[in-house]
Amino acid sequence: MPRPTAGSAARTGGSRTLARVYRHFGEVDAAGTSSLYERVAIALSESDEALRAIEAAPARKRHPTVILAALHDLALAGRAPALAAAYAAADGDAAAAAAIDTLLRMTDSVVAAVARRKTRPDETGRCAVLYPAIADAARRAGANAVGLIDVGCSAGLNLNVDRVGIAYSNGQTLGGPSSPVQLSCSVVGHRPVPARAMPEVVARVGVDLDPVDVTDADEARWLRACLWPDQPERAARLKAEMALAATAPPLLLQGDAVEVLPDAFARVPADALPVVTTTWALSAFPLESRLRFLHRLDEAATGRAVAWVSVEGVGVAPAIPTFGDRHASGHSIIGVAMFRQSVLRAEAVGRCWSRGRMLAWLADS
Ligand SMILES: C[S@@+](CC[C@H](N)C(=O)[O-])C[C@H]1O[C@@H](n2cnc3c(N)ncnc32)[C@H](O)[C@@H]1O
Repeated sequence: MPRPTAGSAARTGGSRTLARVYRHFGEVDAAGTSSLYERVAIALSESDEALRAIEAAPARKRHPTVILAALHDLALAGRAPALAAAYAAADGDAAAAAAIDTLLRMTDSVVAAVARRKTRPDETGRCAVLYPAIADAARRAGANAVGLIDVGCSAGLNLNVDRVGIAYSNGQTLGGPSSPVQLSCSVVGHRPVPARAMPEVVARVGVDLDPVDVTDADEARWLRACLWPDQPERAARLKAEMALAATAPPLLLQGDAVEVLPDAFARVPADALPVVTTTWALSAFPLESRLRFLHRLDEAATGRAVAWVSVEGVGVAPAIPTFGDRHASGHSIIGVAMFRQSVLRAEAVGRCWSRGRMLAWLADS
């Protein structure tokens, strides 16, 4: 098995940069979160052969998160048993050696995987924030049924928002206490989360340029591979979330949201309120597309009310106020917007952190 080699003066400028990126990832990003990835990333940064193998990937696909996900995927697929064993044993030294060995032996597979895929942050932690906001939107519209349209849905796990159980740190609960997916969320501040139950969900539609079908074993494994190997709780939760999603897979529409939204609205029965949700999706849209997205919601609201629940970085969601918070503050703004006959009412209802693990509800409910 190849051993990590010490950094070489003969490294090219590109290799030196890559080495720095991997070292920084190990020492800063992974440190304290994943001792396995800390060890593996630093070992990769010190191996000239490993860095050369990584350079076979397209330039935009050489980041540690995607290369490590590809190696993890090979381990989960049973194609890198030594790496799988090292990860299972949480043995950092063995994982570092096995990761380098796997990368060198299976460079083509790693490069093919990263060229085809991108890292996926899917988890329904977002539901702790979405649930009260969607219920609030339904209350504003007086709706007894909603049709959910998640834009930038990835695997569409947000579309199960009514089928999970949520426990808030202040003792409140929402959703299903016997659901196989139980989420927890810390409440920041003294205001309670609105206790209203969500009305019946009569349609679940996901829209994405590149949606993920969790009923496809390879796709599901890739989602798992994007989690770090020493995060067993998150892995167990993702597994439960995917199993829940697979019992009633949402309708996934592939394409640019601006183009696909009219089709998505058409899938929501006339007597239900369409609720469009976006969670950390709009920053991927150029500003002009965000405005066209807003226009699409307005167009759909000529015959009926349309709601939009956004959970996006400060200032990312057009028309949603920001409480005067600075952009890139590290938290996100929860917005509820109602479109009715050319009238838009948009309100910021709260802040959240850590992709929905912490929530401050700020609106009157
Ligand atoms: C950062 S991910 C967020 C995924 C998910 N909403 C979440 O909370 O983790 C952004 C998603 O938006 C999708 N996306 C980017 N541009 C898009 C567009 N113009 N139309 C539809 N989906 C798009 C990407 O494919 C990706 O799945």
